[in-house]
Amino acid sequence: MLSVRLRSLAKINLDLRVLHKRSDGFHELRTIFQTVSLADTLHIDFVRSRTSRIAIRSNPEIPDNLILSAADAVLSALGVRARVAFDLVKRIPMGGGLGGGSSNAAAVLLALPALAGIPLPLAQLLEIACSLGSDVPFFLLGGAAVGLGRGTELYPLPDRPSLPGILVCPDLHLSTPDAYRRLARKLTDGPYSPTMNRFQSAAWQIGERGEGGGHSVNDFETIVFRDHPHLESIKETLQSLGACPALMSGSGSTIFGVFDSRLRRDRALARLRREALHNDPGRTKIYPVVLVNRRQYRSLWRRQLPLEVQGKGWPPHARFAK
Ligand code: C5P
Repeated sequence: MLSVRLRSLAKINLDLRVLHKRSDGFHELRTIFQTVSLADTLHIDFVRSRTSRIAIRSNPEIPDNLILSAADAVLSALGVRARVAFDLVKRIPMGGGLGGGSSNAAAVLLALPALAGIPLPLAQLLEIACSLGSDVPFFLLGGAAVGLGRGTELYPLPDRPSLPGILVCPDLHLSTPDAYRRLARKLTDGPYSPTMNRFQSAAWQIGERGEGGGHSVNDFETIVFRDHPHLESIKETLQSLGACPALMSGSGSTIFGVFDSRLRRDRALARLRREALHNDPGRTKIYPVVLVNRRQYRSLWRRQLPLEVQGKGWPPHARFAK
């Protein structure tokens, strides 16, 4: 039996624009994904066997856990039968716009080929990831990336030094399909040039400085803040404490802030914790994080797959892989 223990990282969206509704029911996006250091822990026991059995020993209450579909899909692609058992320790809040479930699924897609000793090409892993969810492909790559289309067409942004940040996660689970519905985007392809130009401007800033500063936008904020004005207050507090940008992640409810120094971040953290203790004991979770660039993401993966690799190839392959 082979065992691994993996950290499955969260993401934030440094920018998120929702264009039109597409004929396949999804929306056309322009977004910038960024991995951050908040992580779930996923333990995997793997043994080849005559019949496949895939089970999650902990957290069985998560409905439609993507881990199971990911394991099933990757074992069929590998042509391997195995008993696979998962233990999942959740830290990334669910329904918080941080991509926790998608990250867990991508972790399975990266780990099982290494455990089976059979490499799968990135293009094949990306195809499986797309079939699991719009945010899953990004977690095969990590760092900062521009996401187009459904969010599954990804292009890397240059690695920047890791900036410190804060995630403020209210005890509020928001439904992504619901958020898209409420945006009420039309099926037609509109005249987007102002939006696209503003998005490009933010993408260039993020590529050059690691954050989009005042140019970052999340189109979901308007509708989510209308129903939950305290989320807008969190954003304003983060801004007043020096976060640039302070923005909602995905379709909410997490609000994050990026800071230009640890000192400024730590001061803001202390202030937010004092306020949360006073106004909202125990209900809002506040996490200090760092933005994790692609080099760090990949070296984390190489460290946590002990079976792996010669060379710097990506995705990581087991040493004994053919
Ligand atoms: O792909 P995923 O399962 O994460 O998407 C969840 C839901 O979010 C979809 O069923 C769809 O309603 C909405 N969605 C969308 N456009 C996207 C991504 C997600 O409309 N680009």
